[in-house]
Amino acid sequence: MEATSITRLLLLLPLLLLLAVALRALPLPVCRNNCGPIAINYPFGLDDGCGSPEFRRMLNCSAPDLFFLTPSGSYKVRSIDYDKQTVVMYDPGMSTCNALQPHHDFVLSDLQAVVVPPSSDTVFALLNCSIDSPVLNRYRSLCFNFSGHSCDELYAACTSFQMFNVTTGTGRFPPCCFTDFSTVKFMSMNILDCSHYTTVYGADDLKGIGPMDWSYGIELSYTIPNAGCEHCAKTGGTCGYNTETEGMICICSSFVNSSRVCAGGAGGSSSGDLATGGGNAVAGAATVFWLLLEVVRLLFLV
Ligand SMILES: *[C@@H]1O[C@H](CO)[C@@H](O)[C@H](O)[C@H]1NC(C)=O
Ligand SMILES: *[C@@H]1O[C@H](CO)[C@@H](O)[C@H](O)[C@H]1NC(C)=O
Ligand SMILES: *[C@@H]1O[C@H](CO)[C@@H](O)[C@H](O)[C@H]1NC(C)=O
Ligand SMILES: *[C@@H]1O[C@H](CO)[C@@H](O)[C@H](O)[C@H]1NC(C)=O
Ligand SMILES: *[C@@H]1O[C@H](CO)[C@@H](O)[C@H](O)[C@H]1NC(C)=O
Repeated sequence: MEATSITRLLLLLPLLLLLAVALRALPLPVCRNNCGPIAINYPFGLDDGCGSPEFRRMLNCSAPDLFFLTPSGSYKVRSIDYDKQTVVMYDPGMSTCNALQPHHDFVLSDLQAVVVPPSSDTVFALLNCSIDSPVLNRYRSLCFNFSGHSCDELYAACTSFQMFNVTTGTGRFPPCCFTDFSTVKFMSMNILDCSHYTTVYGADDLKGIGPMDWSYGIELSYTIPNAGCEHCAKTGGTCGYNTETEGMICICSSFVNSSRVCAGGAGGSSSGDLATGGGNAVAGAATVFWLLLEVVRLLFLV
């Protein structure tokens, strides 16, 4: 009798210790919160059910690279600025000052064009346009010069664009047009009748800076859905949504989702070690379950 109790206790102790360790490590997140060096916060999400449903399936992490998915392709994300609410991305297939690439369109989905459109100081430069292009005729007013820069300056300064002068046969550069996203949104490159495009962001700050030093890429400007995420975040939760109904949920831990806020307040589930993924959460839960079973077995069956 005495001996059995002591044996039981001795067997139990390490198990209880293990259980305590497993439980401590537990509030593992369901949502990854970074991709390489880029933090992934609301309204974005990498895992389905994380972030805002309006931004569902927009990002793909092929660590260490993050991609923004659009109908015209995947664009590499350079940075996300959560204060300015901007995403800077780069189209590897786009022509720049020192690389000429075959033409293709830039297309956002209807939803993307509403919730995360290119910012107003992202300029689209349409190059090598035919003289019949709508932006040289009926829609001429859609072209502008920005920060004192003209389109011809781009041809002259960039080695990759200098070859355009050959194709006109006149030794002069073909027409071009600086315009904004709404132009390429409503007219494809074929309709625009321009063979190439490039994009420049932060255009308002480029006064007096030559095309060699412009920032080539697209800056998107997103709006945060008014879904009440701040209440959830304040109580230590991560905002997500039900993958079937797309209704908002507050993810408190691997086991607990609530509709708005997490019980226990900010002190509860801390966002300290969030780096681990859903697979670990499942493994952790399985470990805890197994340990509990062992404890119960030792207590009652031995
Ligand atoms: C909580 O929500 C997330 C995201 O939708 C989901 O992956 C997870 O399975 C949910 N957990 C529970 C316990 O319902
Ligand atoms: C996301 O990236 C992974 C890994 O590179 C790839 O297998 C998957 O097809 C991509 N998903 C989408 C929707 O592009
Ligand atoms: C410029 O556009 C013309 C058609 O307008 C095309 O034939 C030519 O190949 C283009 N130039 C380059 C360098 O792609
Ligand atoms: C842009 O600047 C160029 C060169 O200074 C000028 O010829 C052109 O008319 C300007 N275009 C517009 C739309 O203001
Ligand atoms: C046209 O291109 C050729 C060869 O690249 C160059 O020598 C010439 O100066 C260019 N013409 C203009 C007007 O820039």
